[in-house]
Amino acid sequence: MDALLAHYEAKGEPGEVVEVPTVRDGGVRRVLLYGTGDGSAAALRKAGAAVARRAKGRASLSVVVPSDGDAAALVEGALLAAYTFTIGNGRTKPVGEIVFVGGDERDLKRGEAVARATALARDLVNTPSSVKTPAWLAEQAKAVAAESGLDVRVWEESELGEFGGIRAVGQGSISPPRLVRLSYTPENPRAHVVLAGKGITFDTGGLSLKPTEGMKAMKTDMAGGAAVIAAMSALAAFEAPVRVTGLVACAENSISGTAQRPGDVITQYGGRTVEVLNTDAEGRLVLADALAYAHAELDPDVVIDVATLTGAAKVALGVNLGALYATDESLAADLITAGEAGGERLWRMPLVEDYRAMLDSDVADLANVDRTMSGAAGSIAAALFLREFTGGRPWAHLDIAGPARATSDEGETTKGGTGFGVRLLLRYLTAVPANGV
Ligand code: BES
Ligand code: MN
Ligand code: ZN
Repeated sequence: MDALLAHYEAKGEPGEVVEVPTVRDGGVRRVLLYGTGDGSAAALRKAGAAVARRAKGRASLSVVVPSDGDAAALVEGALLAAYTFTIGNGRTKPVGEIVFVGGDERDLKRGEAVARATALARDLVNTPSSVKTPAWLAEQAKAVAAESGLDVRVWEESELGEFGGIRAVGQGSISPPRLVRLSYTPENPRAHVVLAGKGITFDTGGLSLKPTEGMKAMKTDMAGGAAVIAAMSALAAFEAPVRVTGLVACAENSISGTAQRPGDVITQYGGRTVEVLNTDAEGRLVLADALAYAHAELDPDVVIDVATLTGAAKVALGVNLGALYATDESLAADLITAGEAGGERLWRMPLVEDYRAMLDSDVADLANVDRTMSGAAGSIAAALFLREFTGGRPWAHLDIAGPARATSDEGETTKGGTGFGVRLLLRYLTAVPANGV
């Protein structure tokens, strides 16, 4: 073996794969030798992804799991790299079947469960908006709830009366809006966490219409909602010790004669009025209803929203990092830790108090965008807007406009929806401290 590795000049780095033909049972088989680097979770994730990619086109792949290190990370990397989204006779599966040999059974199961949840989020994000109406997304949530033992309630259009933000954003579309609530209740929960996801099934910008380039990828504008649904699908399997309520505010931000207009004033859940100066800043309007509802009705210890909220977050941090805003230090630290451990990095951004005045309106309690339309600090402004609806509870906001979508296959990430947020939410929720923060 040493001579073989020397011959191939293998260094054992994570992601490095050496292919060796062997003769077995009278036929030539391929054996892949893979590097595991320092054996850390990050290295094993990368190694798993590289092995799965190298086995592309094969009917089956057996992966011998190293006896030390986090086998779950290796499994996660391999299964996520092998993910494909297929409609009709689209792309075929790169690897038919992956079997893991050795390793702790519990670790393998953990890795598989995380990969399954992430793949669910990717499927939801990758589904085209011709199929993915708000009603469709709500139906998917119902199906997930039935499969994973969650309680579910869906508010139909006629029941959304008090949810003025969701109604306003959805009113221009032929496909009416929905609000989804998923509930997970273990015995003796340590705390109650509310997750709120942006579920814009397509974002044209509304009458503040997006240019073609900016609109192309907007079927992915429900990635936050998908992350919430997907993370919740795995809570029972992980025996998460906290009560979790997931809210997904679903609407299509469309353009028509019934669409809301710039300058309209709407009433959010709870009674606060908002002047809609830009209909393309719609995510914060649907989320404000969800946050206000959570504060008024759910008595949460912690509230976390996840949203593809601003192009500004993508400009600031690129596509590898999510922007994190938080009103509580330990919540911020816990989320960053959960992200680092699971391969989803967050970067804490400031809630700059001086900027709050940008959102003052002459005619309503708040404006939905910077009144001067400067465009400066767009991601911070959006976060400050959302904070207004949290009732001062410990709150974190994940702006995932960058990392929710990938333009190429890389490591365990596949082109299209990435499922960003699922892994860090699962890690966070399985380790929430008593009383949340
Ligand atoms: N869904 C977009 C944000 C977005 C942009 C997500 C690019 C992913 C990639 C959001 O609804 C939006 O349009 N935001 C505006 C806000 C602006 C009008 C203040 C933006 O970022 O331009
Ligand atoms: Mn928009
Ligand atoms: Zn949007």
